[in-house]
Amino acid sequence: MTSVRIGVLASGRGSNLRTLVERGYRVAALATNRPGCGAAAFARERGLPVGEFSQRRFASSEERDVAMRGWLRAKDVELVANAGYDRILSPAFTAAFAGRILNLHPSLLPAFGGTMQAAGQALAAGVEETGCTVHLVTDDVDAGPILLQARVPVLRGDTVETLRARIQAEEHRILPEAIDLIAQTSASLRQ
Ligand code: GRF
Repeated sequence: MTSVRIGVLASGRGSNLRTLVERGYRVAALATNRPGCGAAAFARERGLPVGEFSQRRFASSEERDVAMRGWLRAKDVELVANAGYDRILSPAFTAAFAGRILNLHPSLLPAFGGTMQAAGQALAAGVEETGCTVHLVTDDVDAGPILLQARVPVLRGDTVETLRARIQAEEHRILPEAIDLIAQTSASLRQ
């Protein structure tokens, strides 16, 4: 397992953050735009630094991202894992961590990209399988180079909740794997 210092961005429940921490990954910081979210509560409980970047505190998304970038750098974050962060990152942020930001998306991209409701959309579309993707973040939403994907069947009688739970079980497997992969292959992380 890699010892790179990971900064997690999250806005939701935080099950992926919890998985990383419980598997021993070195989560150096959690940045969130929703200080009341489950991910922030978990990070506080574990004594991890929590950076609060609610949009209303900033005049623009760019200002928010410049502040978040500075905060993560001050925590010596080497790799950013976007796990349920519900804002689009501005170029000021993506350029600073180019090739070192992973995004987790609950579909087999490019299918059902650009939405947080990918599981519901897959169900509504009647597809037989969906899944999840970890990809590198570029300035095109949900379109950077894919690192890993996992397939999940859509079963008869599935609800959004049951399908989402099956997808999340796979997310908890491939996000750590993708972090190991990028840590091994990225020269800037091996120095
Ligand atoms: C995941 O399903 C991820 O694919 C999506 O947001 C969800 C975050 O889940 N981008 P959690 O907050 O880690 O439980």
